[in-house]
Amino acid sequence: MAFLQTLGIETSCDDTSVAVVSDKGHVFAVTSAHQDLAHQPFGGIVPEIASRNHTLQLLPLLDQCLNRAQLNWTDIDSIAVTNRPGLLGSLLVGVMTAKSLSLAKGLPFIGVHHLEGHLMAPFLRDESHQPPEGFDYPFLALTVSGGHTQLCWVTGVGQYEILGRTRDDAAGEALDKFAKSLGLGFPGGPALDRMAQNGNPQAYSFPRSHFDQTGFDFSFSGLKAAGIRMLEKMSRDEIDLRLADLCASYQEAVVDCLIEKFERAVEAKNARNVVITGGVSANSRLRTRATDWCARHNLCLAVPPLRYCTDNAAMIAYAGNLRLNRGETSDQSLGPLARSPL
Ligand code: KG4
Ligand code: ZN
Repeated sequence: MAFLQTLGIETSCDDTSVAVVSDKGHVFAVTSAHQDLAHQPFGGIVPEIASRNHTLQLLPLLDQCLNRAQLNWTDIDSIAVTNRPGLLGSLLVGVMTAKSLSLAKGLPFIGVHHLEGHLMAPFLRDESHQPPEGFDYPFLALTVSGGHTQLCWVTGVGQYEILGRTRDDAAGEALDKFAKSLGLGFPGGPALDRMAQNGNPQAYSFPRSHFDQTGFDFSFSGLKAAGIRMLEKMSRDEIDLRLADLCASYQEAVVDCLIEKFERAVEAKNARNVVITGGVSANSRLRTRATDWCARHNLCLAVPPLRYCTDNAAMIAYAGNLRLNRGETSDQSLGPLARSPL
């Protein structure tokens, strides 16, 4: 039996999201609640606040999602839920909800790896978006978010060769910490991107980690520390005066590190299809440089729209659907895992 319509649930970090997606990747509806304001006073995600908000928001979002999709439970034939990796308390809310719904509605369900969701996001489609013409496996994917920075060669569902990952901080973490020190709030990546538009990327020199000349691993902790040290030596007035230049120069260092490894990995794999996904893929500088380079090399570049790049349940529903249609399911012994390699 083919599974045609899968309900997805994502609660691995601080975004609560529900979606219904078809076996062709068509997104009927996705409803999400973000918690940035709740965590902003703390300058980072507070796990207890995140899981508490998931418990408040998940079931109302589920109702809204089915309403928006104009579907009811009889149209849903399966459930997918992120069960790894992530914040344990946050994952628990999604996993317990999916297990309960599975029992109550008599539907099969499956636990999904969060990063597999990000990797399947380029196949999602809706009324206003389609994947680029001809985009298919195999593809090289750069996943960059607040928690992950990873280069992966994808030849099919479940066939992932991790070429490189960050040895310390994620690119988003390096951007957010610097933005926080500049007083741009949390998460400051988008504000830093906006400020950088009016700045000179060569105004300040920040270190690029070149420790890995032949491999594809990243490192952002040295850059992060250098950025914060530089700000400590500057007065508030000087920082305010040079804000745009600081943002542009720091952003350029992050993007240089990402693009260098990305281009080298594309060449090593002789990739024709490439993907950039995760929240940091919203960065305008990263997008421009990747788009230009891919156009020059005649590559098919898929950067999913932001609603499918940041954490969302549509990518989880689709990844789950693909696995369910290969005959895989989970059972009531499924639990959340804080850490789990892809
Ligand atoms: O994928 P995501 O929503 O959540 C996870 O971390 O899993 O990614 C959030 C990250 C944050 O670090 C945020 O600052 C960053 O994506 N981000 C950006 C931009 N928009 C979001 N970073 C740089 N430029 C942006 N325009
Ligand atoms: Zn994510």
